[in-house]
Amino acid sequence: MLRSLLPLGVALLGATSVLAVDPPSCSLDKKCPEEAPCCSQYNQCGVGAFCLGGCDPRMSFSIDSCVPAPVCKDKTYKMDSLDRYKHISEYLGDSSKVDWVGQGEPLLYNGHTLLTMPPKSVGTVLATTTYMWYGNVKARIKSSRGAGVVTAFILFGDVKDEIDFEWVGVDLNTVQTNYYFQGITDYGNTGNLTVDDSYNKFHDYEIQWTPDEIRWLVDGKVGRVKKRSETWNAKTQQWNFPQTPSRVQISIWPGGLETNAKGTIDWAGGKIDWNSDEIKKYGYYFATFGEIKVECWKTDKAPGTNKGVSYYYNDIRATNDTVVDSNKPTILKSFLGTGTNMNKGETTQSGSASQTSAIHAIPGGGVVGSGNAPGVNNGGSSSGGPDSGSNSGGGAVANPGCSSDSFVQNCGQAATDGDSNGNNSNNGVRGAERLGASAFAVIIGIAGLLFL
Ligand SMILES: *[C@@H]1O[C@H](CO)[C@@H](O)[C@H](O)[C@H]1NC(C)=O
Ligand SMILES: *[C@@H]1O[C@H](CO)[C@@H](O)[C@H](O)[C@H]1NC(C)=O
Ligand SMILES: *[C@@H]1O[C@H](CO)[C@@H](O)[C@H](O)[C@H]1NC(C)=O
Repeated sequence: MLRSLLPLGVALLGATSVLAVDPPSCSLDKKCPEEAPCCSQYNQCGVGAFCLGGCDPRMSFSIDSCVPAPVCKDKTYKMDSLDRYKHISEYLGDSSKVDWVGQGEPLLYNGHTLLTMPPKSVGTVLATTTYMWYGNVKARIKSSRGAGVVTAFILFGDVKDEIDFEWVGVDLNTVQTNYYFQGITDYGNTGNLTVDDSYNKFHDYEIQWTPDEIRWLVDGKVGRVKKRSETWNAKTQQWNFPQTPSRVQISIWPGGLETNAKGTIDWAGGKIDWNSDEIKKYGYYFATFGEIKVECWKTDKAPGTNKGVSYYYNDIRATNDTVVDSNKPTILKSFLGTGTNMNKGETTQSGSASQTSAIHAIPGGGVVGSGNAPGVNNGGSSSGGPDSGSNSGGGAVANPGCSSDSFVQNCGQAATDGDSNGNNSNNGVRGAERLGASAFAVIIGIAGLLFL
């Protein structure tokens, strides 16, 4: 059972049966309903946080259901503090106050941020609150280790354009690189780079992304280049090349969870051992993140500008000519808001989480009573740490259309079926990728919201 993955979640679930309600699912062929208009990164419909980072306008009720995405900002994230990190249940879209949003258990150690994966958890993921539309991002990272344990440093767009670095914990001398256009599976896109002991040694991993090429660098040396010119799809008459605003996402996730598809487990180097030396010694698997630097693409004309406040799409083709660099606001008044009603829930009234007319407001989380307007910080600092528990808890979520007693995330991927040049199998490694990008689908998270 999914929920048994999270002991804390179980306790909370006991207290609030509404968490058992699954949000509707969404895909290219099945857009979200009007009352839950936003399709989250995990292909589920809701309001509030569903309409913020990761909201896919192609699968949402209307193209403006998602809240516009904060434009790129040049920034160096020291990763030596969690002051500007918020759990997704505490973030309404103000990127001037919050640098990272996420789920799971980040914590500080020796001036670095650890993303942790305690026994039977689904790990931790953090994403920037601003979006890069081309540019460079460089991160100092020590990967996790162990069979089935995966670390990821990726760029991930709301329409599922993606550029990756990933480490599987059985091979500490390789980092895998990959890219996707609109989430379309293509097993031929992987490329391996050699790295010296990714677990014990910090290395600098960098993605340099322009409208014409992607370069993956390790310690300043270019290891791989992918040119847009190599990605033409004659059938669809477009470039299968990542080209839309993307968040930086870092994560640790259990590719080797025994309930995952065999292809995923094999790719991840086997099943996870929750009694490993690593777990005995530290209490969790972890990946270590030092400084992360974002340099936005510098250009005067689209594509790739960052002059305004926010990006939105004016066409569901979602290619780079459909992105608008605009002055639209990005902040919701409460978790009842959506892109078309950003002020909803402005006046807080007390409500009960057990109301039956529940709506989904936190992806991977659960539901809030419709009378709730929890658009306020719950005061928890989310500073993480093994003891605080302040940013964990809540309910694991089941995937609609997927068995709720399994932990396979591929179900969301049906969204990309029939999209492109060839077969978009949703199994195997691609499922692993998607899970990587979304360690969260199953996580956690609404406790703060429910129990304000
Ligand atoms: C990349 O490395 C992984 C892990 O070491 C290995 O399983 C895979 O076959 C390699 N892929 C390629 C394309 O070389
Ligand atoms: C992005 O937009 C430019 C200008 O509109 C176009 O020339 C280019 O082909 C686009 N890039 C991709 C990857 O589609
Ligand atoms: C694609 O799917 C079709 C029908 O499902 C199958 O016959 C074909 O072999 C597949 N092609 C590849 C490359 O897997």
